Amino acid sequence: MTTTDPDLTTLDFQVTKNLAAKSPAEREQLLADPGFGSVFTDHMVDVCWSEKGGWHRPRVQPYGPISLDPAAAVLHYAQEVFEGMKAYRHADGSVHTFRPEQNARRFNRSAKRLSMPELPEGVFIQALRELIAVDEAWVPSGEDQTLYLRPFMFAKEAFLGVRPAKKYGFYVIGSPAGAYFTGGVKPVSIWLSETYARASEGGTGSAKTGGNYASSLLPQSEAYDKDCDQVVFLDAHGNVEELGGMNIVFVKKDGTLVTPASDTILDGVTRNSLLQLAEDRGHSIERRPISLNEWREGIASGDIVEVFACGTAAVVTPIGTLKAAGFTDEQPIGSLALSLREELTDIQYGRREDRHNWLYELS
Ligand SMILES: Cc1ncc(COP(=O)(O)O)c(C=O)c1O
Repeated sequence: MTTTDPDLTTLDFQVTKNLAAKSPAEREQLLADPGFGSVFTDHMVDVCWSEKGGWHRPRVQPYGPISLDPAAAVLHYAQEVFEGMKAYRHADGSVHTFRPEQNARRFNRSAKRLSMPELPEGVFIQALRELIAVDEAWVPSGEDQTLYLRPFMFAKEAFLGVRPAKKYGFYVIGSPAGAYFTGGVKPVSIWLSETYARASEGGTGSAKTGGNYASSLLPQSEAYDKDCDQVVFLDAHGNVEELGGMNIVFVKKDGTLVTPASDTILDGVTRNSLLQLAEDRGHSIERRPISLNEWREGIASGDIVEVFACGTAAVVTPIGTLKAAGFTDEQPIGSLALSLREELTDIQYGRREDRHNWLYELS
């Protein structure tokens, strides 16, 4: 097998239907205005890993609480990784997800960094299919609506010693999500965190692990206190990293797109896809460190004409204001971010040709 061949490993899932599943009427009511992250489908995927048995006991079962020993390692040492992706309902009723192998690979990179077992890519993707097979009706069909998919894995072993656990659970849950922006995409204001760092060189910044998000909550609260929507982090050298949950891209006057290249940030699937679409249109792409000074000077001189954030949840968000303790810089609003957003979402919802074969049909 070469590294580009898809991994075809699968497991034999046992499916237990939820006898208390929501009625079609209850489900439709919830899907009318699902918001984000608080409504869940009727089932979940649950697979165990142990040192002796490897991945075993693959199940789809009714959505519900997970029973944990109070000494479970995740509760003490935060051995946990997750992913975030979406299922899209197309006009013909079919359901697709977007570049799932990228999420599967990132999941394994995160797992490796957290000393956790890797999950075969084939099983990661199979788990999404297994969930959709029973909860397909939960994929909404309204404009900009999706079923948000959350694969995650954590250390279940009851042991208080500090070492990699010997037992893990892998789960997938689904949560219908409404349009991120109601009434159209709006530019966001961002707060520059000068007190707190998100990650450090050699740390876990490029892994999707809960601890990174826990440590971003205080700076995010500071952003809210300063009337900003999001927080942006710098590295130890004054280079821009990313927002609490999104990557950042700068558009220059000559059409070049610049984005931070660093081991301390999450390598976003949305960002890579948008940059590919921009490259297809003839834009040059630079992945390199970009300092706060270069950003501010670029705005002042007119060399930077647009700044946007991107990630699975909001897709693309123009940045309208950068605020810090000592300054407020208004950012120019251009048209590239929104036009790339439209092209990407058209592909995701099956309204435009998927020339890179990014879509994966789940049902
Ligand atoms: C910290 C962080 N950066 C960037 C992203 C964007 O990654 P993706 O485009 O794969 O969703 C996310 C997740 O959405 C994130 O949590």
